Amino acid sequence: MSVKNICCIGAGYVGGPTMAMIAKKCPHINVTVVDLNEARIAAWNDEDVSNIPVYEPGLSDVVAEARGRNLFFSTDVNSAIDIAEVIFISVNTPTKMYGAGKGQAADLKWIELCARQIASVAKNDKIIVEKSTLPVRTASAIKDILTHTGSGVSFQILSNPEFLAEGTAVEDLDSPDRVLIGGDDTPEGQEALRKLVDIYANWVPRDRILTTSVWSSELSKLTANAFLAQRVSSINALSEICEKTEANIAEVARAIGTDSRIGSKFLKSSVGFGGSCFQKDILNLVYIAKSYGLNEVANYWEQVIIMNDHQKTRFASKIVSTLYNTVNGKKIALLGWAFKKDTNDTRESPAIHVADHLLFEQANLAVYDPKVSEEQVYNDLDYLKTRERAENRANLQVYLDPYEACKGAHAIAVLTEWDEFKTYDWKSIYNNMLKPATVFDGRNVLDIAELKAIGFQVRSIGSTL
Ligand SMILES: NC(=O)c1ccc[n+]([C@@H]2O[C@H](COP(=O)([O-])OP(=O)(O)OC[C@H]3O[C@@H](n4cnc5c(N)ncnc54)[C@H](O)[C@@H]3O)[C@@H](O)[C@H]2O)c1
Repeated sequence: MSVKNICCIGAGYVGGPTMAMIAKKCPHINVTVVDLNEARIAAWNDEDVSNIPVYEPGLSDVVAEARGRNLFFSTDVNSAIDIAEVIFISVNTPTKMYGAGKGQAADLKWIELCARQIASVAKNDKIIVEKSTLPVRTASAIKDILTHTGSGVSFQILSNPEFLAEGTAVEDLDSPDRVLIGGDDTPEGQEALRKLVDIYANWVPRDRILTTSVWSSELSKLTANAFLAQRVSSINALSEICEKTEANIAEVARAIGTDSRIGSKFLKSSVGFGGSCFQKDILNLVYIAKSYGLNEVANYWEQVIIMNDHQKTRFASKIVSTLYNTVNGKKIALLGWAFKKDTNDTRESPAIHVADHLLFEQANLAVYDPKVSEEQVYNDLDYLKTRERAENRANLQVYLDPYEACKGAHAIAVLTEWDEFKTYDWKSIYNNMLKPATVFDGRNVLDIAELKAIGFQVRSIGSTL
């Protein structure tokens, strides 16, 4: 029997876009995305589709096409579980912040809650799909909970990690490099796997749908993120050597990127990687390696995080040292708060770390980001618990206009690579700043020659230009 009803638990950055795409491509399947967060569901259902809670280019069009037809957003988790033949679990799996594994292991409490809820509601056989990124062998824990607390119905667990990149989610979902599905090597497991393959095959060529064991699939997602983050840390490590030796990281990246064994993507030096996944997934990998006593493996991967932390701190320290070793009371404009362009996601954004460092040095910060709200900026800083909430509000202001943010500033730090930053009237910005006016380009996106001709001092990553 083919699948007619899908439920997805978790309406976040993964659940929302992935299910919207399945609904768009499979009008014969009803897709219901559920979440405990009422405000989030209300935003997904907002009549004005530009108010959906996840900003991604093209996403509001996909939602507009399918919503109300075969795509539904709801807080009624039980009904959606009850009716679905396939249930995706797409809840958050952040780094655990307490107890054993604190600061490294993935916190699986939301996954376990989902499994228990599914078990208590399910009255017929279900296929459970791990869409969240999970430690290898989590499927056996989910299976355990389902079989011990369920009412005798049969569950098949598949792993189907999501590889979309925020900022290009719609493109990535529409035309993925690959879809990965892991299933049990039993007749029932293989049948479940075939059903999920058939859903994706509505728009993804079958040779791009890879099938593996559940364990390989789970581990592949952690590995993919570890490799991607490792490339960023590798190029960033070399950016520091460039700054000492007058080599230029952009030239080095181009020179090595033309080697087809290395490839040119993900070789852009910057203030560091952010986002909810890279750090969390590497820490998770480190934790798994340690738990098997594989200390050399753990140390190897941990270094990727250590390098990333170093890059963020190095960037912030350079601002302080360039501004004559004191930023006390100086206005510094931060352009960009999101962890990358074309998303409103700020989780683990390098901007948070840089701002915290500069606030510690008693700078006066002016933040502008085209998609991030004032409330989010303050939430991100408050979450660090480095200082009183009132202090964060007294020493950091969020602006709706980038020109106002830069007015009267000693320096500007570019922390997200938003395209619009390249189009600004930099002459007018310069005229309204204190002199010497310095730009710290943490993303290497601005035209250094143009800025220098205007009169700016420029500090970029990985070059002494
Ligand atoms: N963000 C990405 O780019 C990305 C990419 C690939 C994989 N992933 C993985 O996907 C998973 C989800 O990530 P995200 O960024 O969408 O997280 P998110 O925090 O944006 O969304 C998770 C949602 O799940 C909801 N939720 C939690 N427990 C629930 C429950 N018991 N019942 C109903 N709803 C519940 C939360 O309220 C939240 O809205 C994580 O494991 C993440 O590592 C994320």
